[in-house]
Amino acid sequence: MNNPFTPVFGTVPLYPAGRDIILNDMHKAFLNWTGSPDITSILIGPRGSGKTALLYMIAEQAKKEGWIVTDTIARKGMLEDIYQDIIFQADFLDPYVIARLSSVGVANVEFGIERIEKEKQNWRSKMSSVMSQFSNMETGLLILVDEVLPDLEEMVDLAAIYQLLRQRYPRTSLVMAGLPANIYDLLNNKSVSFLRRARQRFLGRIPDQEIELSFKKTLEKGGKQIDDKDLKQIVKTIDGFAYMMQLTGYYIWEASGEKTKISSEDVRKGIEYAVSEFRIGILDHTFQELSDMDKKFLYAMLKDDDFSNLTDVSNRMGKTTGYCSSYKKKIASFGRH
Ligand SMILES: Nc1ncnc2c1ncn2[C@@H]1O[C@H](COP(=O)(O)OP(=O)(O)OP(=O)(O)O)[C@@H](O)[C@H]1O
Ligand SMILES: [Mg+2]
Repeated sequence: MNNPFTPVFGTVPLYPAGRDIILNDMHKAFLNWTGSPDITSILIGPRGSGKTALLYMIAEQAKKEGWIVTDTIARKGMLEDIYQDIIFQADFLDPYVIARLSSVGVANVEFGIERIEKEKQNWRSKMSSVMSQFSNMETGLLILVDEVLPDLEEMVDLAAIYQLLRQRYPRTSLVMAGLPANIYDLLNNKSVSFLRRARQRFLGRIPDQEIELSFKKTLEKGGKQIDDKDLKQIVKTIDGFAYMMQLTGYYIWEASGEKTKISSEDVRKGIEYAVSEFRIGILDHTFQELSDMDKKFLYAMLKDDDFSNLTDVSNRMGKTTGYCSSYKKKIASFGRH
């Protein structure tokens, strides 16, 4: 029996927990692209909350409705990647469309279709040409951007051009995903102010009953059983966090070996491994990304048993609340819930 859990980043799990509402709304958006507020959406969540997996699931939905989907991560060259990918996918469409596209920047050669730029057009006009070919067809275009970076010029260009494209070709959708601090910084950029009206989806804590159901289904699909009391303990440990569900499930499954019934001892061992992996994979990584000042802010918070007050923390740091509020925002964005 293969282990059915997937503690691997960017992998859609066998039974995703807690995404039905978002997926339903996105499905409606692909059917009613002019009126749906979800057509431009931003998925916001900490490391391991399931952003990439959800982007893939959204992509599958769009494809089922006949949309062309192109996905990229935010990095230099992303705009050209998007354009080339769309042209590549157009190869599978109507030959008439391909012929027309060839005249805007691609050419057929003996070994399939090789893409060459005929002239230096900027991205907006190139995309406009492509979109005008699509507009008569029963298809839309979904652009997915993962790992959003706020200070990438092309990211800002994409947002601005997308807005213009959508005015002319409303069957166009943009779904982006990123870490909270990056998304907030991007939204603060004045040139993309229209993005603030995008639907923001925070991938926070997944309800326990959803985790429990998906966990149980995954186990059963793999042919294993578990007692309810052990399952409850697992759900408590997972604490609504997508990656933790996969990690915990994976190690408990491994601990149980060939047995079809998972024991309490398997659960104990599995949780121990999972917690330690979580620490290395998520917590240490996140800590390394903090600046010296972020860490000072965190140390200043340690004196509080429960909630911290910004004024107290600022006083301890010897700084004004105005100065400290940006650190508060950043630290809050690392939170899991
Ligand atoms: N809805 C879900 N239910 C259960 N497990 C999930 C769900 N979504 C994602 N996962 C699992 O969680 C882990 C992290 O998922 P993913 O890579 O999508 O996270 P991410 O938010 O993109 O992380 P990062 O910020 O590092 O890119 C993977 O192991 C994936 O299989
Ligand atoms: Mg990701």
